Amino acid sequence: MDKPILSAVSTNVVWHQATVTRVRREAQNRHRGAIIWFTGLSGSGKSTLAHAVEEALHQKGCRTFVLDGDNVRHGLCGDLGFSDTARVENIRRVGEVAKLFMEAGIIVLTAFISPYREDRERVRGMVEHGDFEEIYCDTPLEVCEQRDVKGLYKKARAGQIKEFTGISSPYEAPENAELTVNTGRAELDSCVDQVIGELMKRGIFLHDQRTTETR
Ligand code: ADX
Repeated sequence: MDKPILSAVSTNVVWHQATVTRVRREAQNRHRGAIIWFTGLSGSGKSTLAHAVEEALHQKGCRTFVLDGDNVRHGLCGDLGFSDTARVENIRRVGEVAKLFMEAGIIVLTAFISPYREDRERVRGMVEHGDFEEIYCDTPLEVCEQRDVKGLYKKARAGQIKEFTGISSPYEAPENAELTVNTGRAELDSCVDQVIGELMKRGIFLHDQRTTETR
């Protein structure tokens, strides 16, 4: 990918207004749609935490979906590498997809390194205030490297993977994340509780969505 982000080349396109609106979908779901954006180094625990939060929300009767970096790069973003430009485009696409999920009334949890502050802020700016929650998975590089679940840090140190985040490509930690979770040290359950607490505090969902019949 050597071209910058595409500018608007689709012309003569007219927005079609849905009759089944976000508000109606949210009323049916009995919770808000939202983008819960997990950011952090590779191996920081973003995917693990996002999936564990999704499990907890699902059990409470919420409609959810996880967009995960490694998975999305098998399809939608399979044409993108890890240059600065490619990462910008990756996050732009994911932001647009996450917004669609949110408009469908779903709590969408995204797990991407998303190393650049500007890119994350651009996604935040695409939606209304309160629709985007940034959650920083704050695991130090040394811990991620020690875990090295996928063996990629070892390869990056050996020079076999170029532009590897934290080693040969930058990571810009959030300055104003809605929540910072100590995914380096805290137990998973405690991290999940913190995220769920945050979502309740922000009114994304208020209580158990299930009726007594469906429990
Ligand atoms: S992002 O920087 O564009 O947000 P994304 O989250 O989609 O990255 O993908 C990161 C995953 O791709 C990592 O968890 C890792 O498994 C894999 N990966 C492969 N090459 C790299 C690289 N050069 N830098 C970071 N992650 C890489």
